[in-house]
Amino acid sequence: MQINIRRKIKNWMQLEFQAISENEQLARIAVASFITPLNPTLEEMADVKTAISEAVTNAIIHGYEQSKGKVFIRCTLRGDLLEVEVEDKGKGIVDVELAMEPMYTTKPEADRSGMGFSFMEAFMDELDVTSIPGTGTIVSMKKKLGTLSWLEE
Ligand SMILES: Nc1ncnc2c1ncn2[C@@H]1O[C@H](COP(=O)(O)OP(=O)(O)OP(=O)(O)O)[C@@H](O)[C@H]1O
Ligand SMILES: [Mg+2]
Repeated sequence: MQINIRRKIKNWMQLEFQAISENEQLARIAVASFITPLNPTLEEMADVKTAISEAVTNAIIHGYEQSKGKVFIRCTLRGDLLEVEVEDKGKGIVDVELAMEPMYTTKPEADRSGMGFSFMEAFMDELDVTSIPGTGTIVSMKKKLGTLSWLEE
């Protein structure tokens, strides 16, 4: 059987929520629901949820520390490619390259292991971090997913 995919699916969603740890689960579930029509495998679903959790946790505990703020998530689907951005307008990162090194953490006392960025890198196909100290951080990730289930006539 031959299946032709004539036009790529395009879909997007945005989410904005208070930067408190109670909302980490909301973020995971919202992104997981958004990608469900693509029939992701259980492994792909778990990978995306983990990457979202790590990025959102970072925004809350490092970006804003104890202060109030908002986390923004923007998701786009182009065909079977998921692009997701997690943004905070918190304190930013002075040295992004150093921050992304495995086991680098600025909060060892809080039992952090410094593996968040390494997980995002391992579980997604692409990871890009843009940060301006005093302005905030944008974590952009991409991942190819599952098999297309919405086929055009
Ligand atoms: N959104 C952010 N705003 C400011 N600093 C950040 C942000 N995300 C990460 N960082 C910095 O980068 C470091 C490394 O992040 P990473 O997620 O890899 O490890 P961690 O959060 O310290 O530990 P873990 O994720 O294993 O609990 C953090 O310790 C922090 O200094
Ligand atoms: Mg982290």
